[in-house]
Amino acid sequence: MSGSMNEDAQKIWDERYGQEPAPPSSNQGGDPMHYTLHNFLYQNSIALPTTGRLDGWIVADVGERFMKPAVKKVLALGSGMAIIEEFLLKQDYAEHIVAYEFSENACRAAMERVAGTPLEGRLEMRSGDVLVDNLPSESFDVVFVQAAIHHFEKIDEMFAMMHRLLKPDGLLMYDEYVGDDHHIFSDEVVEILNQLNDSLEPRYRFDHLAGAPRNSIHANTMEAMMALDPSEGVHASRILPLTYQWFEVLQRRDFGGTLLRPFFCGILPNFDWNDERDRTVARMIMLVERMLLQKGVIPSHNTDIVARKRPKPLPPMHPAESARIGFADWVPPALYGTRPEAVPPTLRVTPRAPWAEMGGTNIVDSLRRWLAGRR
Ligand SMILES: C[S@@+](CC[C@H](N)C(=O)[O-])C[C@H]1O[C@@H](n2cnc3c(N)ncnc32)[C@H](O)[C@@H]1O
Repeated sequence: MSGSMNEDAQKIWDERYGQEPAPPSSNQGGDPMHYTLHNFLYQNSIALPTTGRLDGWIVADVGERFMKPAVKKVLALGSGMAIIEEFLLKQDYAEHIVAYEFSENACRAAMERVAGTPLEGRLEMRSGDVLVDNLPSESFDVVFVQAAIHHFEKIDEMFAMMHRLLKPDGLLMYDEYVGDDHHIFSDEVVEILNQLNDSLEPRYRFDHLAGAPRNSIHANTMEAMMALDPSEGVHASRILPLTYQWFEVLQRRDFGGTLLRPFFCGILPNFDWNDERDRTVARMIMLVERMLLQKGVIPSHNTDIVARKRPKPLPPMHPAESARIGFADWVPPALYGTRPEAVPPTLRVTPRAPWAEMGGTNIVDSLRRWLAGRR
């Protein structure tokens, strides 16, 4: 690694964006690493609990709820190739987006994509450092960040800046990894991952990234994470406390990933999503995560937030107050959480069951009544 963490991360991302897209790497043509890129898993573990629909998408949902009529000026941070920013423009959720992205390759790719289209002129890509560009205060309606805050090295300065750049009542919107710093998970999470791994038939446990059976799951080490990307999750655990300090949280949708991301990483190619047995195994894993999240046994490592600029930031949250901030049973201290929506939602397990629609509390009775009504 070379100089500052930002420079190292910038180089890593520039190389990644400069590469040709990888060919499909598994027997199902799916990504071996990211469970979120597998439709079956995305739909059941993220789309459904956050939007209530299997074919829902959080970004579109946020756009519909908070960006109609179109937001005039959006500042996007860490936008990569600005694929999602392009979607916001195309859907007319935003009129104009200024996007900062460290990687010049990514900026160039985005500008080439929109060149000559009606979006040209509505998307401005900048590869400089937003902290040193000294943008005018109160000049944006929305700050939009997709999966980049967990890469911010100067996270305190970034939150102060996002707050300063927003107009009064301006909104911060993000979808982020908010778990343990550098993805070095708690012993408890690693233990649960191993118990799940042990319960899998060997053919599901072949790790295609390691090229060997996965007999156990080890905690990430700092050395390995530094070699991979020193900015990965650098201050992830501070994202939520800083959010409540600088912003009033209007909507928070936790969608887990605490077990699913590390558990499925490497073994994804073993699953054929057309095979009902494989789907059943995956559903069980998703169910275990959902139940452990709902019972407050494990924290959610990912969340989607919409928050309004506070007229004045609050004092930093005391560590005791934020200790369980990622857990479903956390209730914001009075000062920080002024709205009921700020309480993390209990994740919905399935679409509303027919008996719930009937307002029944006794499931068996309600089901009986529902069945009777169908005859
Ligand atoms: C995980 S990628 C997400 C990219 C994109 N938002 C997406 O969802 O596809 C994180 C991106 O943030 C960029 N990044 C991290 N810190 C940044 C900063 N302070 N300023 C600009 N870009 C930054 C990285 O270069 C990288 O492209």
